[in-house]
Amino acid sequence: MATPTPSPLRVLTGITTSGTPHLGNYVGSIRHSVRQSVAPGVETFFFLADYHALIKVNEPALVQRSTLEIAASWLACGLDPERVTFYRQSDIPEIPELTWFLTCVTGKGLLNRAHAYKASVDKNVAKGEDPDADVSAGLFMYPVLMGADILMFNAHQVPVGRDQIQHIEMARDMGQHFNHLYGDHFTLPEALIDDAVATLPGLDGRKMSKSYGNTIPLFAPRAQLQKQIASIVTDSRAPGEPKDTEGSALFQIYQAFADAEETAALRRAFAEGIGWGDAKQLLFERIDREIAPMRERYEALLKDPARIEQTLLAGAAKARRLAQPFMGRLRHAVGLRDLGAQQQAGARKAAKVARPSFKQYRERDGQFYFKLLDARGETLLQSLAFASPQEAGRAIALLQQQRGAALATLAAQLETPSAEQSHAVAEALDVMAEGAGK
Ligand code: TRP
Repeated sequence: MATPTPSPLRVLTGITTSGTPHLGNYVGSIRHSVRQSVAPGVETFFFLADYHALIKVNEPALVQRSTLEIAASWLACGLDPERVTFYRQSDIPEIPELTWFLTCVTGKGLLNRAHAYKASVDKNVAKGEDPDADVSAGLFMYPVLMGADILMFNAHQVPVGRDQIQHIEMARDMGQHFNHLYGDHFTLPEALIDDAVATLPGLDGRKMSKSYGNTIPLFAPRAQLQKQIASIVTDSRAPGEPKDTEGSALFQIYQAFADAEETAALRRAFAEGIGWGDAKQLLFERIDREIAPMRERYEALLKDPARIEQTLLAGAAKARRLAQPFMGRLRHAVGLRDLGAQQQAGARKAAKVARPSFKQYRERDGQFYFKLLDARGETLLQSLAFASPQEAGRAIALLQQQRGAALATLAAQLETPSAEQSHAVAEALDVMAEGAGK
């Protein structure tokens, strides 16, 4: 049997507040994420990436409106702020601070290769302009800010679209480099790509996307939803003529909302020559059936923005209970330290230069292991095999966070220590945590 994953698994999702959520966002991300956030053993972080919005949008009212609409949409779709950590990026001052720390360990060359930045440069070059024309340093730094979002909460998994995979890999690079320089502080994140999640076509049949201007707002009023669905492109076949489901945007959108039986029924109706007007009416009714109760909640939420503000502030307080002490440890790690405390620490250090440490390694069997060594290099704790370095890393992270208390949780993944060894392990973990803190 596979090694059990130490709980809890941390999943983190960010949404840039630069627009109004549309049906494509709902089908491609919101619906799935909200469902997943109630799964047992998963700890979820959802945040509004409003610092990221400033990279693209310089209309203050639009940033504010979008933040409100996106927050209300997630809540209306069932996100439970008691259960998940739901916050606004700009309420966490530790994030820009961490961004700077990461900036200092990120190669400029790495950022030169970021797809979004490169696309802008390529466009400029093709037009014969200066390569960096109209490229802000914010766009260039986008991946570092995103890396800080992820590493701040030691997320294990980040569900993203394929276009974001590179950003997750960059966050791993930054975390790895920082860990290498300053000790094991960051969990290295993985991108989570769900191919089962549908990409929705828009009104014109291309992928539904704000940049194509072909979106249907998630919570458009009923009448507007109906009107927009009526404007989905179709071919010119008349009622009575059989229709192709293949390549039909209307059919694909229907499928994203319907169950297998409903989809099969519409497929038959296409073959039997249903008129486009009737097909659009079916689609409208099917979507509205799913959306209507959420739309009602959404409208109620929008009427009380102060309550959403309260929810976000409470979420930020929850997030900062993790971010603040963690940032304290990181400040210490890089040498931003209390000068008064330094001398004492220096004196103590002279007596005890070496500290306990974790060693991660791969065995001939191809499996991954770690051990905890005491200050003299003696093994205090030995892990069993893990299938991946990430799983081993997660177990280490749990030991670092919960120290001695993690031994029970991880019992199935460790060689059983004696009572005496357990005691020594707990002590070593405390020493390490102290060393990493103030
Ligand atoms: N870049 C993401 C997007 O445009 C938004 C984002 C910002 C994000 N920070 C993140 C996503 C951290 C996941 C994790 O969709």
